[in-house]
Amino acid sequence: MYLGIDLGTSAVKTVLVDDAQRVIASASRPLTIASPRPGHSEQDPAQWIEATFATLDALKASHAGALAAVEGIGLSGQMHGATLLDASLRPLRPCILWNDGRAALECRILEQRWPALRATTGNKAMPGFTAPKLLWIATHEPDIFAATKLVLLPKAYLRLVLSGEAVEDVSDASGSLWLDAARRDWSDAALAATGLTRGHMPRLVEGCAPAARLRSELARRWGMTRQPVIAGGAGDNPAGAVGIGAIEPGTAFVSLGTSGALLAPTGTIAANPDRAVHTFCHAIPGMWIQAGAILSAASCLAWAARLFGVAEAELLAPLGSRPQAPSPVSFLPYLAGERTPHDDPLVRGMLDGLSHGTDRSAIVQAVLEGVAFALADCRDALAAAGIAIAEADAIGGGSRSPFWLSVLANVLNVPIHRFAGGETGAAFGAARLGRLAVTGEAIAAVCTRPQRIETFEPDAGLIEAYAQRLPAWRELYRPRH
Ligand code: XUL
Repeated sequence: MYLGIDLGTSAVKTVLVDDAQRVIASASRPLTIASPRPGHSEQDPAQWIEATFATLDALKASHAGALAAVEGIGLSGQMHGATLLDASLRPLRPCILWNDGRAALECRILEQRWPALRATTGNKAMPGFTAPKLLWIATHEPDIFAATKLVLLPKAYLRLVLSGEAVEDVSDASGSLWLDAARRDWSDAALAATGLTRGHMPRLVEGCAPAARLRSELARRWGMTRQPVIAGGAGDNPAGAVGIGAIEPGTAFVSLGTSGALLAPTGTIAANPDRAVHTFCHAIPGMWIQAGAILSAASCLAWAARLFGVAEAELLAPLGSRPQAPSPVSFLPYLAGERTPHDDPLVRGMLDGLSHGTDRSAIVQAVLEGVAFALADCRDALAAAGIAIAEADAIGGGSRSPFWLSVLANVLNVPIHRFAGGETGAAFGAARLGRLAVTGEAIAAVCTRPQRIETFEPDAGLIEAYAQRLPAWRELYRPRH
């Protein structure tokens, strides 16, 4: 029996997976984000721990027997967050999250200080990444910087609490800008450019390797008969890849979570930092993931639901299962700024083309289309790095909407597939990594492809209609920096 724990942005999701890879049970607890100033996005690490423990307590209450048999645990998590710990390993301040835009100036400083940044990390310095956040802290909160003894990504902090060990996996570490992506090791030059050393960093392991063991008192609390192994785990996107068996070149997928991404596993680094393509180590050895990442995807639909005061399902129902034509309204999904391709933390969203005749459905459709157009920008940025995408699987909460996947198929002009249960992807992938860390089985034998339940094929008329709209949609973007 294996556990996958996904420390997401809006919730912690924990799944219990049996030896036949069936999800036996799952539990989830919500998380909140604080925005103390415009463009700032933070979370109190204590919330992650409370939510994680609550999911495990709930599983103990509902599935004590299965939980008792857990041998391996995999962690997956929101990437890039800076959790700063003091000498007693206590958080010094709230974690600065992946969608925080405060460190734009620090990105420019970092690239000037360390000109090899793009070549070594495969990434452009963008405010969401971890290193520029530390430069911001050094300038704006010097006492905290001075007191910082350890810098952890969110799920590494969770692992520290669960096991007492500071360990990170290379996939999550590659979102820090401190990793040499080809060597899959910390870069001393990158750390020095931020005033840090290896001493401030956790030990590194591959995602499927054993990293630690659950503390004995926690194993007892959840009634586990042994102390389960905790695997390296992965950032949420690489964990999602493992969950759907996207472990080889040619297995591209699109993630419609709070954030969105178009991701392509590769056997070599094919970076394009100038267009803000992300280079991540994969959660399995010898593989990387090139990704176009957008900051707001399913969160745009959640925003629309809040605006109209109805549930998301109620917003989507009148749209039916596929579009007849593009909406007359256009939407820029930059509610939290944007990464690929603009790298613009200051840009904000926009609705264009409103008239007296505009109804709620036209706006909702525009919101879904705006996210799809943003993913078309990601596709083009990946194509410029030589990555052609012929088809894609969809994961994340947004993949439950057939209408959205149909829009995506037509905008990207590729078939989009979906799986049953795509929304538990990252936690399920983490559980697979937990299993690999225990059994040492062949990766391909465990990371199989789930059955696709539906394919959304592009339709000639709609491909053309959306291709005509894309240039006008792109024209709406005006840089704010
Ligand atoms: C990826 C990214 C997000 C976060 C939160 O670069 O910033 O996907 O991992 O999900």
